[in-house]
Amino acid sequence: MISCRDLSKSFGDHKVLDKISFDVPEGIIVGLLGPSGAGKTTLIKILTGQLGFDEGEVSVMGKDVADLTGTDRDKFGIMMDNFGLYERFTCKENLQVFADVYHISPSKVTEALKSVGLEDAVKTKASDLSKGMRARLLLARALMHDPKIIFLDEPTSGLDPKSMRGIHKIILEKKKAGCTVFLTTHNMDEAAKLCDEVMLLDDGHIVERGGPDELCRKYNKVKKISVCLDDGSREEFIQDNESAAKITELIRDGRIETIHSKEPTLETVFLELTGKQLEEA
Ligand SMILES: Nc1ncnc2c1ncn2[C@@H]1O[C@H](COP(=O)(O)OP(=O)(O)OP(=O)(O)O)[C@@H](O)[C@H]1O
Ligand SMILES: [Mg+2]
Repeated sequence: MISCRDLSKSFGDHKVLDKISFDVPEGIIVGLLGPSGAGKTTLIKILTGQLGFDEGEVSVMGKDVADLTGTDRDKFGIMMDNFGLYERFTCKENLQVFADVYHISPSKVTEALKSVGLEDAVKTKASDLSKGMRARLLLARALMHDPKIIFLDEPTSGLDPKSMRGIHKIILEKKKAGCTVFLTTHNMDEAAKLCDEVMLLDDGHIVERGGPDELCRKYNKVKKISVCLDDGSREEFIQDNESAAKITELIRDGRIETIHSKEPTLETVFLELTGKQLEEA
C-alpha cells in the first residue's frame, strides 16, 4: 500500500528525513514512533501528497505520489492537526460540508457521528467540543467516505483513557474491515496495543522496525525479575545463578508476595537504540 525508497527531505539546512526506505503491506496497522521533531508529521504529509520531497521514490496504492489524482486521494482517510474543523459549525454541519465535497450521501453523516459516539452532540458547535469529542469528530470525518488507507497523526494525543480506548476500538474495527492504517504516536502503550508493526524514527533514519513484541524480545538482553516481599519492599534481580539462589531462599522463607519477570517496553527498546526517551518524562 505504501512504498518509500531512499526518501530524503530537508527544510533549509536541516535534513529531517535521510534516505528512508520502507514498505507497508495491505491490511495492517503500522505505527511510526519517534521523539518530537523526528519528522513524523513531515512523513505523513509527504505520503498524502501535501508536501514535496527532495529525493527518493514514494508511492501509495501503487501510484507515485506526484501522480495521485483527486479520485485516488478520495481513498485516503486523513486525521491530522492541519485538517481543522469549522469552529462555528456544528458537528453535523462539519461533516455535511465534507460529505458535499466528497459526494457522500447525507445519511452517512448521521451514521458517521453515531459510529464515534457523537450522536448526542449533533448540534454542538465544534468550538464547544471537549478534546476527546473533537478527536472523535476528526476521526469520523476521516473515515466517513470509507477510505482504503488511513493516515492518523497522533490520533489520541492528550486524550483521557476512555476517549483513547474509544478511538482505538474504531481503528481496530477499520483494520478488521480491511483498511491499512499508518499512524504516528508518542504513546508506547498505544503502539504496542494497536500496531502490527512499528517503525522507530530517529535523526532522520528508521533505526528499527518490527512487531512490538518481537522488538521487545529482541532487545530484552538483560532479563530482570521483580519481587515484592512480605514487608512491602520491592527488589529487582537480574536473571542469573546468583539471583536464583537468593530468590530460592526468599521462597523458602515464605517472604515473597509477588514475583514477575520485567518485560522490556518499546520505550526501553527506543532508549537502548538511541539513548533518547520517546515520551516526555
Ligand atoms: N514547514 C516547515 N518549515 C521548516 N521546518 C519545518 C517545517 N515543518 C517541519 N519542520 C521541522 O522539521 C522537523 C520535523 O518536524 P515534524 O513536525 O515532522 O516532527 P514530528 O515528529 O511530527 O514532531 P511532533 O512529535 O512534535 O509532532 C522539526 O524540526 C520541524 O521544526
Ligand atoms: Mg507531528
